[in-house]
Order: sequence, then C-alpha cells, then structure tokens
Amino acid sequence: MVATAIAEPATEPRTIPGLPPGPRMPRALQTAIWSRQAQWMLRQSRARFGRMFTLRIAYEGEWVMVAEPELVKRVFTGDPKVFHAGEGNQILRPILGDNSVLVLDEKQHIGQRRLLLPPFHGERMQAYGEKMAEIAAREIESWPTGTPYALRPRMQAITLEIILATVFGVDHGERMAPLRDALRGFLDLTTNPALLAPLLLIGPDRIRRVAAFRRRVDLVDELIYGEIAERRNAADLAEREDILSMLVAARHEDGSPMSDAEIRDELLTLLVAGHETTATALSWAMERLVRHPEKLERLRDEAFAGEDAYLTATIQETLRLRPVIVLVIRKLTEPVELGGYELPAGASVTPSIYLIHRDPEIYPEPNRFLPERFLDNPPGTYTWIPFGGGVRRCLGAAFAQFEMAVVLRELVKHHDIRPANPAAERPFRRAITETPRHNAEVVLS
Ligand code: HEM
Repeated sequence: MVATAIAEPATEPRTIPGLPPGPRMPRALQTAIWSRQAQWMLRQSRARFGRMFTLRIAYEGEWVMVAEPELVKRVFTGDPKVFHAGEGNQILRPILGDNSVLVLDEKQHIGQRRLLLPPFHGERMQAYGEKMAEIAAREIESWPTGTPYALRPRMQAITLEIILATVFGVDHGERMAPLRDALRGFLDLTTNPALLAPLLLIGPDRIRRVAAFRRRVDLVDELIYGEIAERRNAADLAEREDILSMLVAARHEDGSPMSDAEIRDELLTLLVAGHETTATALSWAMERLVRHPEKLERLRDEAFAGEDAYLTATIQETLRLRPVIVLVIRKLTEPVELGGYELPAGASVTPSIYLIHRDPEIYPEPNRFLPERFLDNPPGTYTWIPFGGGVRRCLGAAFAQFEMAVVLRELVKHHDIRPANPAAERPFRRAITETPRHNAEVVLS
C-alpha cells in the first residue's frame, strides 16, 4: 500500500499551474520588438524556452506560443466553446461589423460559416478560373520591362480586381470605379499602420466616433448596400456565380435569408481576409522564384506544358517558408491543460505557424526554398498550417491557392523575370502580414 502511494505521483504527468516561461522584459518592450521583429523574437524565444513559451503583448494579454504539431492538433481540434478565435479578433469588429465570421464564436460563428462555405468549395473555384486569368493577363501585360518594378502593389491590384469580380460580382459598368476606390480606402483602415494605430490606442468601441474613420466606413457601406439592393432584385440571380449573389440566395437553418447587414459584414470580411494576404503570398512566391532561376525555369516549362504539380508544390513551399501570418489565436474561456501546463482562462494559445514551418525535425534544411519537398509528400494537417486549422481554418484557402496558381502561371508565361537586386528581401511587418521588405522588386523582360 505504502509503496503504491509513493509510486503513483512519480508516474503521473506533472501539470504546472500557470503560464510557460517567456522573455522577462516589460510588456511594452515585448510589444515593440514584436511589431518590428516578430520572426526574430519567435526564433530567440524558441531557442531559449523550447516549444511552448509565453509572450506578453499590449492589448493582447498573454500569448502562449505553441510550436509542437501534437499540441497544435489539440488546439485546432479543441472545443470551440473553450478555444475562442473570434474573441481574439475583436479589434476588427468596428471595421467588419458584428456579424463578421471573423469576430464571432461558437453557435453564431458556425451559423455564419455555414452560409459562407458553399461558394468556397474547391470545385467551385473552376468557375472563377477564367475570370481570374483574364484579370491577371490584362494587368501583367501592362507592366513595364527593363526597369526595376515592385510587384507587391500590382499583386494588390490583381487581388482587389479578382475580389471585385468574384466576391462582389462587379467587373464592369459605371459602379465599378467608385466601389473599387471606396474599398481601397476601406482597406487602408486595416493595412495602414497610421490608421491602425489609433484603433489600437483608443480601442474598438470608441473608434466608431472618430470622424475620419466613420467617413470611410460610411462611404463603403452606402455603395455595398446599393449593390445588395440591386442584387436582391436581379432577374438573373439564380444563374449568377459571384459570392454576393450566392449569399443573397443563401438561407439560415430556420429558412430565413441573410439580412443586408450580415451580407455587408461578410463581404467586407472576405475582402479584408483575402486581399492583402493573397497579394503578399504572390509577392513572396516571385521574390523566392527569381532568386532560384532553375526553379523558375522548371515552373515555366510546366506552365507551357499545361502541368500543375511543380506549381502546386511551389505555392505550398512559399506559404511554408514565408507564411503571410505567423500565428493564429485562440482565447481560452476556461482553464486548459496543455503540454504539461494548466493554462488559465483568459490567456490566448497561439499556434506558431512560423516556428512549426521552420522546425528541422519536420522540414530538413528548413531555411531553403525547396518546392521539391512537397512533390511526393503532401503537406500535413498540423505541420503545414499557413491557413490555420480546425473549425476556424481559412475559408479562402482553396480560393487563395487557386488564385495564386492562375496568376503565377500567367506571369511566368508572359515575362522573363530577374531580381532587381540579387540579395534576398527580408520580411517586413505591415499591420498583420509579413511582406517582402522591398515589395518584391524585379526586372521584367
Ligand atoms: C494566401 C492567402 C491567405 C492566407 C495566408 C490566409 C490565412 C488565414 C489564416 C491564418 C486564418 C485564421 C485561421 C485560424 O484561426 O485557424 C484565416 C481565416 C480566414 N480567411 Fe484566410 N487567408 C488567405 C486568403 C483568404 C482568402 C482569399 C479569403 C476569402 C476570399 C479568406 C477568408 C478567410 C476567412 C473568412 C477567415 C475566417 C474563418 C473563420 O473564422 O471561420 N482568406 N485566413
């Protein structure tokens, strides 16, 4: 009896109440480093504290970074009532609205996600392919040759045009230019640090009262509500393939249609979630490819031959090596045992996309750009996570990869491309995305 009583505690896994260790510097300093050198901070902390550590970031509370596939799996498959993603995105609420799938949790989140899923099914992408290729080709043909040219702003133009056509269903006519301009002004709110900073400083609730902020949101709202009203009365609604038309036709589980406000919030969510991210991923693909001319050549040969395997692997490798977003957030609503810690409610668990993707045990030579690594090995659910995972996995993952394939194919077929400067471009943080510092500058010929 005595022996058993003594032996038991030794065999039980030890759970430490509280947060894993992390850098001891003050929160303000951690926040400052994070906003400029996120990847460096992740690498340093991983080397010092291991696969689980805590960062303290202003307005974000505690981030428990997780860099172990088994633990990432537990987070992504965890109970959505306990692992809240919407709560981690509250900063977007004044911009995207109260119905946005990004800011909701639990039942409300599932309700909106159900309505949004059908237009994003993999096979539906084919319907958008032609339009995407047409937009990409038109843009790419207009680019200048023989001079340094930054690709990122042009990739943004392409992804905005594609969203206008496929999500809003607006690709010609007199309403297109004003809508495009208003959406650009709106996107500034989420990508321009000068506009994002006040949002962080005065908080999501009071920002609605700031006139410059309201003006941009009001303008975009007016135009979008106009589009929704027009679409509700469109005679050809059933034949239309754009996402706005599909949302107008969609029904809640109780059979009721989506309200104008719901549709508005989801359209803007798709714009904000899908525009900058895809443009950045495309810029990184080219930034890497031009510095590996033999890989670029292989891609071009296959594009002309109508093959896709190397292109797919290139996109997967780009998103591994240069993930656009370095982590995803789940805020805990109750204490959770994870990796030997009893984490308190209120803390956030943050699977680190960047650290998982750079783990040499998962990816040999993790810092090299090697699309070949994915040719015979499809990416793993918990080891390749550029789109997050579980019930919150990026709704636009298939859309984004399809769009990247279309644009890259057009680009390598149209132009010979070399880097404007042989040195690799380093990641540079813009709002929440990690972009190439010199905007993927190339010379086309
Ligand atoms: C390369 C491009 C993209 C990247 C890297 C990316 C990445 C992500 C990530 C990391 C998340 C959070 C996932 C999580 O919390 O587990 C997310 C969510 C989301 N993304 Fe994307 N995304 C991309 C493109 C798009 C596109 C094109 C769209 C739509 C047109 C889109 C729509 C969404 C939506 C609606 C969510 C929220 C899903 C939910 O909360 O249920 N994304 N994305």
